[in-house]
Amino acid sequence: MMIGQEEINHIRSNVDIVDIIASYIPLTPKGKNYFGTCPFHDDHAPSMSVSKEKQIYTCFSCGATGNVFKFIMDYEHVSFPESINIVASKAGLNFHMQTSKKPVVHQALYEIYDLSAKVYQNNINTAAGKEAKEYLKAREISEEAIKEFGIGLASKKRDLITTLLLGKKYRSQDLLKSGIVIEHQGDYHDIYYNRIMFPIWDVSGKVVGFSGRVFHGEDHSKYINTKETEIFKKGELLYNYHRAKDYARRVDTIIIMEGQLDVIRAYSVGIKNVIGTMGTAITKKHALLIKRLAKNVILCFDGDAAGAKATMACSRELQAIDLVPRVVRLEDRLDPDEYIKKYGKEAFERKLASPMNLMDFKLLHYKKDKDFGNTIDVGHYVKEMLGELASMKDDIVRELTLKKISEETKLDLTFLRTQLEQLLDQKPIEPIVPALVTTEKKVRKSKYQKAEMYLIYYMLKSGEVIRTYDHKITYMPTEKYRLLAREISYYYKTYGEIIEADFITFVSDSEMMMKAVGEIISLDLKDDYTMEEIIDYINTIRDYNIKVETERLKKLMRSEPDPLKKAAIASKIVALKVRGENYDS
Ligand code: CTP
Ligand code: MN
Repeated sequence: MMIGQEEINHIRSNVDIVDIIASYIPLTPKGKNYFGTCPFHDDHAPSMSVSKEKQIYTCFSCGATGNVFKFIMDYEHVSFPESINIVASKAGLNFHMQTSKKPVVHQALYEIYDLSAKVYQNNINTAAGKEAKEYLKAREISEEAIKEFGIGLASKKRDLITTLLLGKKYRSQDLLKSGIVIEHQGDYHDIYYNRIMFPIWDVSGKVVGFSGRVFHGEDHSKYINTKETEIFKKGELLYNYHRAKDYARRVDTIIIMEGQLDVIRAYSVGIKNVIGTMGTAITKKHALLIKRLAKNVILCFDGDAAGAKATMACSRELQAIDLVPRVVRLEDRLDPDEYIKKYGKEAFERKLASPMNLMDFKLLHYKKDKDFGNTIDVGHYVKEMLGELASMKDDIVRELTLKKISEETKLDLTFLRTQLEQLLDQKPIEPIVPALVTTEKKVRKSKYQKAEMYLIYYMLKSGEVIRTYDHKITYMPTEKYRLLAREISYYYKTYGEIIEADFITFVSDSEMMMKAVGEIISLDLKDDYTMEEIIDYINTIRDYNIKVETERLKKLMRSEPDPLKKAAIASKIVALKVRGENYDS
């Protein structure tokens, strides 16, 4: 079903953007706006402002701007129609729009994964899947879990999926790109054969790749993951994220594990707020995704040394965005899957109910291989821990941990405190705005570009300015502003007024336009303007156009051999000059 702009606007006007955003991130009122930490970049100060009056949000640091739909699209990683459904349901409106499952970009890739996942799932339920089923059964993976997690089987035949996909008329280049098919001496083959297949979903729940596990005889590579594509970046997705997110938000707690089988086990026994890193090092993007789910983060990696190391690395990424996780360590080097199987759900839940504080985990971690009778070892230990405490923002935790170190090492507490303070003095002060953002913001706008932006800023506010623009200007030099001004003018003619929050919907399918709108809205100029100012902007733009056009004509004239034509160009230049002098009124 297609719906019109007016219906979309109606849905939008039924909710308050402040309430909606506040349901995702804490907002505090300040003046006539609300402020919160921006979820779209690594924000340390509350840089996002939400305007109740305009029903839009703007981040002064990274430039993210939009209306309620845009916020939901970016936060939930959903399409525009899906965001409309979410808003409608939050508004309590009885409305549901059919959303197309297949995004237009990379459609072939999505289809290839979708179809492959179905084929793999089907395989496992045929006679050929008997052995794989037995393997899963031996590992106590239930039929239900197989279904829920779409576990399948890549058959013994090396060209099954390939033949099928080629038969469906997918282009070989897309098949190769998907990482499911490989080319070998002019022939195409399946990359996966004889493996148990785990689909991997992106954060919105679309299959974007696979992890295939050997199941008879161990192989040198236990798991083979699909190679990365535009839609599958391991550093940007977490296993089971889409299934876990709602519940995790509700209980404000998320549990992080390493392997997909750990996640499947936990989920199957009813612990549903669990996601997996799939063995990879956690990235900043992962950390930001985690931060969107809950304030309470529990790291529950494998009980071995590698798991402890992963816990350290993961906690660093989380701490960098002011999220302090807690830690569960499992005995006997068990992983969560093995632990739950061995000791049961209740025992595991008891572990989850009393996780270690991060600093206590770090104390244990650094102590592990050290001999406290050895002064050098103690020295290393103290230095390592002071380094950790230097990046710990919580004063109380810092002080308590210092006390513990003092007791363990018999070093004087005041001495330790002084050492820590020295370390803190050396620590470079974190830039408030991330480097990438600053460079983008620093691009100086020229005078005419500013005029274009200011003019559009007031076009969004006033019909009078739009009419003046239509009347006086023929051409904005910067493409994105030119297109934007044209859309504003068109929108005004069609709807008779501009409501910024609805205008955003109108241009939301153009990334270029959204960016331009964002830039302009976040200018935050004064509300009122005078007509002189407007004319001034218009004249600056016209001057610039005349200058550019004059330059072009002069160049043309220089290369023109025919004297008659040369003269014609010269008179055009004069005419331009006259025009330039005459439009000051
Ligand atoms: N992994 C991988 N490639 C490998 C080994 C591991 O991508 N060669 C990833 C997988 O996502 C795996 C996770 O790292 O789930 C954790 O690895 P590991 O602990 O070795 O696997 P388990 O989860 O214990 O899997 P299994 O129980 O099947 O051995
Ligand atoms: Mn494991």
